[in-house]
Amino acid sequence: MSETTTEPTSPRLPEPFVMVVFGASGDLTRRKILPAIFQLWCRNHLPESAAVIGYSRSDKTDESFRTELCDSMRDELSCHRGLIDDEAWEAFASRIFYQRGAYDSPDDFAALGKRIETLNAERNVPGNCMHYLATPPAAFADIIENIGAASLARRGQTDPWARVVIEKPFGTDLRSARDLNRIARSVFDEDQIFRIDHYLGKETVQNIMVLRFANSIFEHAWCHDYIDHVQITAAESLGVGARGGYYDRSGALRDMVQNHLMHLLCLVAMEPPSALTAVAVRDEKVKVLRALRTIPPLCAASGVVRAQYAAGSIDGREAPGYRQADSVPADSRTETFVAFKAHVDNWRWSGVPFYLRTGKCLPRRCTEISIHFKDVPRVLFNRPPAGPLRPNVLTIRVQPDEGIALEFQAKVPGPAMNIKPLEMDFGYHESFGGAPPEAYQRLLLDAARGDATLFTRSDEVEAAWQFVSPIIEGCSQDTDNLLQYAAGSWGPKEADELIEADGNQWHLR
Ligand SMILES: NC(=O)c1ccc[n+]([C@@H]2O[C@H](COP(=O)([O-])OP(=O)(O)OC[C@H]3O[C@@H](n4cnc5c(N)ncnc54)[C@H](OP(=O)(O)O)[C@@H]3O)[C@@H](O)[C@H]2O)c1
Repeated sequence: MSETTTEPTSPRLPEPFVMVVFGASGDLTRRKILPAIFQLWCRNHLPESAAVIGYSRSDKTDESFRTELCDSMRDELSCHRGLIDDEAWEAFASRIFYQRGAYDSPDDFAALGKRIETLNAERNVPGNCMHYLATPPAAFADIIENIGAASLARRGQTDPWARVVIEKPFGTDLRSARDLNRIARSVFDEDQIFRIDHYLGKETVQNIMVLRFANSIFEHAWCHDYIDHVQITAAESLGVGARGGYYDRSGALRDMVQNHLMHLLCLVAMEPPSALTAVAVRDEKVKVLRALRTIPPLCAASGVVRAQYAAGSIDGREAPGYRQADSVPADSRTETFVAFKAHVDNWRWSGVPFYLRTGKCLPRRCTEISIHFKDVPRVLFNRPPAGPLRPNVLTIRVQPDEGIALEFQAKVPGPAMNIKPLEMDFGYHESFGGAPPEAYQRLLLDAARGDATLFTRSDEVEAAWQFVSPIIEGCSQDTDNLLQYAAGSWGPKEADELIEADGNQWHLR
């Protein structure tokens, strides 16, 4: 495929800052946050004086923290992107520090404040600070309140600035999300708060807007006149593994639908924003969420397919059922699969169903959006002997094998009029050489530069919960309708029946 390029723009360097990672002894810090910061450092995307302080309750020194990080980074990077560069690591490691402290201790936060001041003075950092909350959500409120009490929030100040990045999940329902928003906004202004969902940092997700608004051929057909329906699938091949305890309190609706699937739906359905600013883009996303037709609890109980994986096999290996996983109660009623039909009740999408599904222990890991265009008229080719024809489908492969495919009809060479569906396929690997960068790199860089476009605003998170909460309520009132599916299958047959009732089929099988 030949390519036309515009001059690449290099990202603006953030102002010098200190980053504090709360929950520094945890899995996310080790596997995602610090490797992403290190990669940004290696690519010269961070200022020379940038420094990271890990904060958690575990007993560590600067040195032992650095050694642990280096070991896990070697594992991470060697699996995915080649070996760690020892010289670069040495330079980077001298910028990493560890501060032991509790999340509910004002004294420990005062000590953290002193440590930040010392580092600022030593490294000539003007006082900018990014707080990253990488603990389980139970600690979020304490940390935010203590940041405020220790005068580390710099509310109303832009020079120097302070920002807070809050990991998902942001609440467990509408009420808890509102509570957390209230706490966060009692300490920070909204433009200091960065609610992170790593899906939004994925290149393929950002490319949805480019596909729609940088190509005239798609956007004109992007409406109910031409689109029959939309499917969004987020499939995981793994089960809950060792995270059963956490997952059992969450389930697929909270863990995947409220955040990742809602973001994808918004990007597919939103109107063109008036500008590529955080305000304009997020305004349009919120409008989509507000236009979603409510699925009331009573309808959710019968119309939303919920299921839990039972023992089965994936890729020829035996897979135990969900209830056999560590820390999952033997009588758990938590769903690991969900499928449902949504409607965006506005002019553009009138009458177009959006089918969403997500699940664990499905045959393969794959997130895809497919746009199914309407049938051509049943004249000429779309009737016997050449027809009926398959309608055009545009598939956005979010992960893995990132790319876009357009299915269309072509004549098979020869004397007869035989028509066959073919695919035009664009793959990130072939076109751009290698896998797209980790989502956390882009998001951390944006947060450091103060660009909140790819983060979730308070009204957005609440609007998503407003849609999902009645579904959760309906499903929890009627736990009898929880179905089972064999690990390694595409979910229960009821998920197929849901879409087949409208004459459609899941695109990805
Ligand atoms: N891991 C992932 O891949 C991933 C992906 C997306 C989002 N997240 C989100 O990122 C956050 C951190 O995830 P994680 O996997 O790193 O969590 P984790 O390993 O369970 O916890 C991180 C650290 O938080 C501290 N902590 C504070 N309160 C705690 C509590 N009540 N229970 C357990 N630990 C507590 C612990 O450090 P000390 O005891 O030393 O203080 C722990 O090492 C969570 O909100 C999670 O939902 C994680």
